[in-house]
Amino acid sequence: MTSLLILNGPNLNLLGQRQPEVYGHTTLDDIRAACATRCAAHNLAMRFEQSNHEGALIDLIHGAAADQAGIVLNAGAFTHTSVALMDAASSVALPLVEVHLSNIHAREPFRHHSYIAPVALGQICGFGAQSYLLAIDALAAHLEAG
Ligand code: DQA
Repeated sequence: MTSLLILNGPNLNLLGQRQPEVYGHTTLDDIRAACATRCAAHNLAMRFEQSNHEGALIDLIHGAAADQAGIVLNAGAFTHTSVALMDAASSVALPLVEVHLSNIHAREPFRHHSYIAPVALGQICGFGAQSYLLAIDALAAHLEAG
């Protein structure tokens, strides 16, 4: 069965408690459940992971090349800093959709730049947990189009 990697970076394990005024009260487990339902609706399997460590995220991206058809990536703050994550994403050449809960373009200037965007199919941000579901829809359509 075709499968997607939904990959979450640093501090996203704290969703629900972390700055609820910015990120809301939805937990990462809530997002995992919503993503599983949406993947199933597209007849896709899902691997859902979170790490606070850049190297672990890189290893997960490399590993995805073996058994995943695409990646939904919320790289958290590494979005704005990590050339290594950008290189990992371009190395595996899987279709990737960048997501953020918040609208990074409406926040501090240092959040406006993404190292992931140039190697992504596209970026979805500002819709809270819904950003992930829109990304799954976009990847499913992309994969279906062949
Ligand atoms: C985030 C936005 C990033 O700027 C921030 O560092 C995060 C979360 C988001 O989902 O809105 O950790 O990726």
